[in-house]
Amino acid sequence: MAEPAFTPRVFSGIQPTGNLHLGNYLGALKRFAETQNAGISSIYCMVDLHAITVWQDPSELRHATRELAAGFIASGLDPRQSILFNQSQVPEHTQMAWVFNCVARMGWMKRMTQFKDKAGKNAEQASLGLFGYPALMAADILVYHATHVPVGEDQKQHLELTQEIARKFNHDYGLEFFPETQPVIEGAATRVMSLRDGSRKMSKSDPSDMSRINLTDDADTIARKIRKAKTDPEPLPADADGLEDRPEARNLVNIYAALSDQSVDQVMRDAGGKPFSEFKPMLADLAVEKLAPISSEMSRLMQDVAEIDRILADGADRARAIAHPILQRTYEIIGMVGAKP
Ligand code: AMP
Ligand code: TRP
Repeated sequence: MAEPAFTPRVFSGIQPTGNLHLGNYLGALKRFAETQNAGISSIYCMVDLHAITVWQDPSELRHATRELAAGFIASGLDPRQSILFNQSQVPEHTQMAWVFNCVARMGWMKRMTQFKDKAGKNAEQASLGLFGYPALMAADILVYHATHVPVGEDQKQHLELTQEIARKFNHDYGLEFFPETQPVIEGAATRVMSLRDGSRKMSKSDPSDMSRINLTDDADTIARKIRKAKTDPEPLPADADGLEDRPEARNLVNIYAALSDQSVDQVMRDAGGKPFSEFKPMLADLAVEKLAPISSEMSRLMQDVAEIDRILADGADRARAIAHPILQRTYEIIGMVGAKP
């Protein structure tokens, strides 16, 4: 039986663990809002079920889930135009994940480098959920027949696994039911590096708070972190080529370019040759101008968690309206009695 052609649909998920930072904003949230504004149907999910593959304190998980939703909205995501919801509120994700547990092979899962990194030497003590994590991720995506998934480079292997699961399912049942989802990997331009070490990604797991700008930082904190950012002693080079071997300088210029929606070449036309004593205050002013409204909007939203919960419940209803028929059709294809596509 012919299945309908796949319309472009973007899906992405972020784990509600820890603080949102400038890297999440420039590499994910800001880009998500731009995709939405380009008119592409977009679905964004707080993946709380993925978060609990490692221990989460219940009250922190609840807070982080709401704060992540506030971060999406404060970054320009319109929850009426896009779908914004919490994973555990749409049971079709876990239902589809079970099906995919039965499609994915042990050998494929054992190759996943993120499991090896996260489980470390003590894999026997890792949760079964951590091992099965990529099958749930494939379910997140394919239960919406999503065609494009913006993610960081570290998730590329999970996207390849998603394609493998879709291919095996389609092959086993002789249908083109699931799309071949394309990863949209963040480029070097949107990768934000640590303020303390230009060779490492800005990350929520870095023990030094000075390494990152949190979306909840106030104006003074943002300015101070930029003033103290590590640099080399030379002034900025004349043009972008001169940034090649200067990771810290390049990072600050990249951040300036991303926050001002300019190319690195454009930024270098104005800032080339300036000492950091001049460039850092320019960057601090720009960062405060762009980020302070986001942090104040996030704290405003967090004062009314009932409203955030309403937005997430509405998002879950609209997500389910898409996921439910796709899951039921999947059950029907597999041969489950009572499936109602
Ligand atoms: P994570 O914080 O690693 O769960 O990532 C959530 C989202 O933010 C993913 O889409 C990442 O690609 C993006 N992201 C995280 N850190 C950075 C960074 N330093 N630069 C750019 N994007 C990032
Ligand atoms: N594994 C992703 C990460 O850690 C989060 C995630 C879960 C995700 N499900 C997804 C990302 C589906 C994209 C699509 O960043």
